[in-house]
Amino acid sequence: MKLLVCGGAGFIGSTFVGLRVREHGDEVTVLDALTYAGRQENLRDVESEIRFVHGQIEDPEVIAETLGSDPPDAIVNFAAETHVDRSIADPYAFSVTNALGTHVLLEAARQRALRYLQVSTDEVYGSIETGSFTESSPLAPSSPYSASKTGADLLVTSYFHTYGLPAMVCRGSNNYGPRQYPEKLIPLMILNALAGDHLPVYGDGRNVRNWLFVEDFGRGIGHVLAHGRPGEVYNCGGPDECENIEVVTRIIELAGADPSLIEYVTDRPGHDRRYSLSCEKLAGLGWRARTRFIDGLSQTVDWYRDNAWWWEPIRSGAYREYYERHYGRALGR
Ligand code: NAD
Ligand code: TYD
Repeated sequence: MKLLVCGGAGFIGSTFVGLRVREHGDEVTVLDALTYAGRQENLRDVESEIRFVHGQIEDPEVIAETLGSDPPDAIVNFAAETHVDRSIADPYAFSVTNALGTHVLLEAARQRALRYLQVSTDEVYGSIETGSFTESSPLAPSSPYSASKTGADLLVTSYFHTYGLPAMVCRGSNNYGPRQYPEKLIPLMILNALAGDHLPVYGDGRNVRNWLFVEDFGRGIGHVLAHGRPGEVYNCGGPDECENIEVVTRIIELAGADPSLIEYVTDRPGHDRRYSLSCEKLAGLGWRARTRFIDGLSQTVDWYRDNAWWWEPIRSGAYREYYERHYGRALGR
């Protein structure tokens, strides 16, 4: 296939691009704004095999130029502002990229009748105490991040209903794996544990997340692209649910760190208690997550241990300022 992958220099997008080039021989153009979370280094294994365009999805001219006169078979959109804590501190960019940016891409897809796949999140459903969300559960986002992703999902399905655009949505649960920016729970805890720094656990540490190894999500998205029905939404969740404190304790064991590094800090405002997805619909198309959490976590700790070249420039740059601003406050400094 010939694909335009927006946000392909980020964590999940770069994994997806690697899979598509290596396993499917796809012809890929990546369009990415290279925000703090996007890096061309993430694409270094495939850089000679893809085309890279530096630009923003909310810029219609860049999108038109990128699509050019020989458009792709499909647009797959990963581009987003993705961190809940940043959306609480500074929400506006989330509406611009996640909602408006998606709208611009949908218009471009509509004008050229292109297949469109929106990469979305389980957070659009909000929190669930027991049981699991299906694709027909009500949407009840809690954070500016999840609200902006919900707006995007609704635009996507509206373009199917109104214009017949062959558009689909794939909603993933919490991802983890190599090359995830260390603002998210797992890479943050791994790098802090390896460095002997504090491990800041929000609230009582008993919030539950449904962990999905990033390659499993990449394959799930590929599955929806190949076999999904236009206008449909597909959940894509991991095989294991875990309380945050269990995740942190496992990381401490795998990194050989001291459990006294755990520090309970002020909770995140509006913190969703539990996410859980029912994925029978995608299983019906033949997809299943292959990686158990304990195995994927061990691989991920090893990857961060062995790839300091990837994270050292991040830890010494603007990330430090973000970390001090965010955790300085949470740690009461
Ligand atoms: P990420 O933050 O690692 O990467 C986001 C990418 O989008 C970066 O490369 C960034 O440069 C790019 N980007 C940001 N704003 C842009 C803009 N205006 N124009 C073009 N590019 C822009 O995110 P990720 O974790 O790889 O998430 C990718 C997608 O998957 C997002 O849509 C996210 O909502 C969704 N998702 C993430 C998770 C998760 O656990 N990380 C789970 C489910 C769904
Ligand atoms: P995160 O990785 O930010 O993903 P999301 O909020 O999108 O699920 O957080 C995962 C869980 O870990 C969530 O319950 C918040 C918690 N958390 C901490 O306890 N400490 C931290 O420093 C971070 C970043 C998250």
